[in-house]
Amino acid sequence: MQIAVVGSGYVGLVAGACFADLGHDVIVVDNDEKKLAALNRGEVPIHENFLPELLERHRGNRLHFSDDLESAVRDSTAIFVAVGTPPNEQGEADLSYVESVARGIAGAINNYKIVVEKSTVPVYTSDWVRKIILRNGAENSEFDVASNPEFLREGTAVTDFLYPDRIVVGADVERCAAVLKEIYAPLVDGSYYQRPDSIPRPDRAQIPPPLIITSAKSAELIKHASNAFLAMKISFINAVASICESVGANVQQVCQGIGTDTRIGPRFLNPGIGYGGSCFPKDLTAFRAVARECGYDFRLLDEVIRINEEQRQRFIRKVRSALWTLRGKKLGVLGLAFKGGTDDIRESPAILLIASLLQEGCQICAYDPAAGERAKEELQAGIQLAENAYEAARGADALLILTEWEEFATLDLKQLHAELKYPIVIDGRNLYHPEVMAANGFTYYSVGRNAVSPDPAGSSTRAANLTKSTRS
Ligand SMILES: NC(=O)c1ccc[n+]([C@@H]2O[C@H](COP(=O)([O-])OP(=O)(O)OC[C@H]3O[C@@H](n4cnc5c(N)ncnc54)[C@H](O)[C@@H]3O)[C@@H](O)[C@H]2O)c1
Repeated sequence: MQIAVVGSGYVGLVAGACFADLGHDVIVVDNDEKKLAALNRGEVPIHENFLPELLERHRGNRLHFSDDLESAVRDSTAIFVAVGTPPNEQGEADLSYVESVARGIAGAINNYKIVVEKSTVPVYTSDWVRKIILRNGAENSEFDVASNPEFLREGTAVTDFLYPDRIVVGADVERCAAVLKEIYAPLVDGSYYQRPDSIPRPDRAQIPPPLIITSAKSAELIKHASNAFLAMKISFINAVASICESVGANVQQVCQGIGTDTRIGPRFLNPGIGYGGSCFPKDLTAFRAVARECGYDFRLLDEVIRINEEQRQRFIRKVRSALWTLRGKKLGVLGLAFKGGTDDIRESPAILLIASLLQEGCQICAYDPAAGERAKEELQAGIQLAENAYEAARGADALLILTEWEEFATLDLKQLHAELKYPIVIDGRNLYHPEVMAANGFTYYSVGRNAVSPDPAGSSTRAANLTKSTRS
């Protein structure tokens, strides 16, 4: 199948490389000349496992990059639109990039095409895309519009794409669904997984994945509702974590107790400094706006968003209760990306927290395995970057853990202790056991668990007084 993917960001580039790995011929189109030049030079613009291998395997062969939308459309049967849908000032999705691509597609339609929304868009977008294409001269019979929402997570994007929990195809007519079925056939019939060179299967993957065929509107809603539900799970457990802090319970034990209920499940019950990234924050406000437009006041989403914002304030209060005044304090920070495994800092809670701490007059020395340079640019060089976790901790009044990179969970605690000016760790991601930290001589704050301080005899001490001071 000849496929065009418009947008070479986290979704478009990964989708393009994976479609090529499924055996299709793919042209990825972007209007960012710098990005295209880097891709054509063989560079990999984002940090994603297995993406370098796939680009190396298919670039110049089954995978091409171009700025010419019209010829990509002429040469393709399916055109996936994967451009950004950022929030506007009212919190609605800004669909101007999608509209501009739809106009560009209209003028180039030369035989039957399907136009597929891969970007996350509000319900009714498929109707609008159809109208725009018709308005710009295409014939009704020459194209169909489908919604094929993408559920990949940054950091594991390639394996999420190739080993998805499900593939949702929202198509209102059979001829359109048939094209999408053919594109995903190697995953749905399992043949991709038999190949010796297929990307390795992750632990939890169910193969082959189910294909769910819906109307275009249902598919659009599935994406917004999925993200809203996942964000709700995070805010729910963060609210429970706040109660744990007040009463001296341990949120990890509570998570184990509720997560083993198969109706609830353990995933996404991750207490911490809240969700961020380029999807959840904007998708929640966009979904709320869609609901409002339909006459439904989705107040549950207001609360999910409020709890998420409050979680960052609670963390700042924790830093204050550990250090008293903040002006002039030197803080080591581990993590800048919005989550582990990615270099994406969009709406990263770490960046938002650092910006607040800089405003309070703190000095920050931060380390992130992938997002350092992007973060420094975003924070306008207000931070110093370290080469590793120990350098970030060197001479600091306290160490803050803000992103759940795997390497931050396995630090040499003796070395860390030796580097810090005061052995204080404030962990926004619950990467360590409080008892272990106390036994290693740290005063340790985390989320939804008692703060602990070192016991002179070497055993951990529950520091109820420390916990109390973080109550809101
Ligand atoms: N990032 C994720 O984890 C993720 C997951 C699922 C869905 N999504 C959704 O997918 C969409 C894309 O997200 P992303 O993170 O890949 O965005 P991104 O900002 O990384 O990439 C978007 C790309 O589109 C290009 N672009 C914009 N206008 C264009 C035009 N007119 N012609 C050609 N190229 C154009 C930009 O230059 C950019 O390279 C969004 O709607 C997002 O909500 C993202």
